[in-house]
Amino acid sequence: MSSEGKGGLEDVVVSTSDICFIDGREGRLVYRGFDVNDLVEHSTFEEVAYLLWHGGLPSRKEMDAHLKALSAARKLPPKLLDILRALPKKTTPMEVLRTGVSALSAFDPDAADNSREATARKALRLTAQMPTLVAAWERIRRGKALVAPNPKLSLAANFLYMLRGTKPHPLEEKTFDVALILHADHEFNASTFAARVTAATLSDLHSAIVSAIGALKGPLHGGANEQVMLMVEQIGAPAKAEAWIRKALADKVRVMGFGHRVYRVADPRARHLRRLATELGQKAGNTSYVEILDTVARVVTEGKHIFPNVDLYSGAAYKSMGIPTDQFTPIFALSRVAGWAAHVMEQHANNRLIRPRAQYTGPTHVTYVPIDRR
Ligand SMILES: CC(C)(COP(=O)(O)OP(=O)(O)OC[C@H]1O[C@@H](n2cnc3c(N)ncnc32)[C@H](O)[C@@H]1OP(=O)(O)O)[C@@H](O)C(=O)NCCC(=O)NCCS
Repeated sequence: MSSEGKGGLEDVVVSTSDICFIDGREGRLVYRGFDVNDLVEHSTFEEVAYLLWHGGLPSRKEMDAHLKALSAARKLPPKLLDILRALPKKTTPMEVLRTGVSALSAFDPDAADNSREATARKALRLTAQMPTLVAAWERIRRGKALVAPNPKLSLAANFLYMLRGTKPHPLEEKTFDVALILHADHEFNASTFAARVTAATLSDLHSAIVSAIGALKGPLHGGANEQVMLMVEQIGAPAKAEAWIRKALADKVRVMGFGHRVYRVADPRARHLRRLATELGQKAGNTSYVEILDTVARVVTEGKHIFPNVDLYSGAAYKSMGIPTDQFTPIFALSRVAGWAAHVMEQHANNRLIRPRAQYTGPTHVTYVPIDRR
């Protein structure tokens, strides 16, 4: 390996962390010691957020207080809604989320306080507010009346309710909650690293989350789920999938929803999302998204030995719930904010500025020539 490594900081350990462990060879994902498969079966997104922030599962009393605080924090400041209404309708949901989170810091009573207690309060508020922000923009851009948050609903059910205006079916709520659990953290992925770099300058939580949202937006990270759905729509029908993907591979196209920097086997999250997308498709009487993706997965895995990642099947599940494609990456952020915040708190608790070096490859002794003599 050269002194600059393999590039992209591959396999570089940046610091220790107690939050999340990925075993890329075994295909295991662990939050604070708990296997994500167990959390999917037994927990909820709200409890997982507590686990990530506080390091252990809550008692009944702690959980009740946590749920109460989360549902009490869902409303957005009216002036924030005015800011959203002032944006051009063509603004993408990810741009709106980035802008909205940045603006929310101006309304947050703890904005300037970087203590652990204040950052935990801000984390809770942002986790509660971001679903309202995403749903509000969906309704504003479509010219529909806003739906006020319903404090009796879970975070997952309430988001779907605010987005669509009707309470979701229990299978939709369960699917959405599981998707949130599965996306909640993933060690030092690009957006979390961006959050930690920002936090390590002793900047605040909102600034770190804005950095993270910017990093998540790209198609090599959170943006991949939207690209997968665009591919599915381009393919059009299950019968066309095999020929389409074989041609794409022959043309050396990078197929979104496959491959991973850390997993060398199947991403454990993909199997849950495939199962849920299948169940939702069956309920809606349209399994064509999953059928197309299954064919694409078979051909890519056989041909390239790379496996589906979290982004392959999530969009099929979201689409079956009537969620527009350009909302898929904001949904990723609604969940990952829990992990980002946990990492900001961990970074602040044991901080050192993150400031790597570059191996300089440019010239070093160029003589300056005044502008009219060049
Ligand atoms: C996730 C990702 C960015 C990781 O990239 P990485 O660790 O830098 O891996 P590389 O880009 O170096 O790829 C290694 C090899 O696998 C191939 N590969 C990796 N992902 C691929 C994909 N999705 N489609 C086709 N080929 C892929 C590369 O072409 C390369 O092959 P080569 O060695 O013959 O050139 C990459 O797999 C990717 O672009 N995936 C698609 C985007 C996506 O789904 N992102 C969400 C991740 S959760």
